[in-house]
Amino acid sequence: MASRSPSFDLSGKVALVTGGSRGLGRAMAGGFAAAGADVVIASRDGASCAECAEEIAGSTGRRALPYAVHVGHWDELDGLVDAVYREFGRVDVLVNNAGMSPVYDDVTDVTEALFDKVIDVNLKGAFRLMALVGSRMAAGEGGSIINISSVAATRPRPDVLPYAAAKAGLNALTVGFAHAFGPTVRCNAIMAGTFFTDVSKHWDMAAFEARAQRFALKRGGRPDEIVGAALYLASDASSYTTGAILSVDGGQP
Ligand SMILES: NC(=O)c1ccc[n+]([C@@H]2O[C@H](COP(=O)([O-])OP(=O)(O)OC[C@H]3O[C@@H](n4cnc5c(N)ncnc54)[C@H](OP(=O)(O)O)[C@@H]3O)[C@@H](O)[C@H]2O)c1
Repeated sequence: MASRSPSFDLSGKVALVTGGSRGLGRAMAGGFAAAGADVVIASRDGASCAECAEEIAGSTGRRALPYAVHVGHWDELDGLVDAVYREFGRVDVLVNNAGMSPVYDDVTDVTEALFDKVIDVNLKGAFRLMALVGSRMAAGEGGSIINISSVAATRPRPDVLPYAAAKAGLNALTVGFAHAFGPTVRCNAIMAGTFFTDVSKHWDMAAFEARAQRFALKRGGRPDEIVGAALYLASDASSYTTGAILSVDGGQP
């Protein structure tokens, strides 16, 4: 058999990225569009989604649809999915990226409201979107689902325990949904390490730099450094990869 290079091309595909307006989501949406996909940028702030969509469409020539939605609100997600199928008629790649990781000083400071919000945004919304989009992918031409998890899922720090539990749940959903919608829909997770995004603006950078000396790469990641892994999982290059949890963390112990 003749050997061939794997294809990372996304021409003719549609990618829906939650939390696509900033940080890792914005980098992935831009990377998908540069690889040929039309993209949907979904987050709570419609104005920043619109600004991001305009920038991506202008720089890549692809179509980019902004959509304002709170992924923790179950009832808003049908509207998102309906709007995307109305506009494009398909979704080939779903990235459950929207997330938040509030820190606290003591576990007794965690209120029920905070706990519920962290679970709703990081886990519940991803579940509902996988159910809605995955079933439509399976009934159509198939697709690829990518969940953005965290190293906290397997190395939980005491100051983010509800978040760590939500991301561990997301890892479990990743394996389960690979079976629910296989063989035509693949479902994988990226277990992200420490990336410099808006979340890092409030960090004690000196303390972080000291901690990063224990990473194999001895530094945090830039948002564009998640794009290669996302493109791999989104495209035919990963045609035999499903139910996988891929670490992209610079060798974080
Ligand atoms: N950065 C890291 O070091 C790191 C490490 C491990 C895992 N991760 C994971 O990677 C993902 C992206 O993180 P990031 O660092 O890029 O975060 P970020 O810069 O804070 O961006 C978060 C994105 O999610 C959107 N978002 C937040 N809450 C939302 C909600 N309820 N509904 C809809 N959209 C919402 C935000 O837009 P709006 O504010 O407009 O809603 C924004 O587009 C998250 O799942 C995070 O847990 C990040």
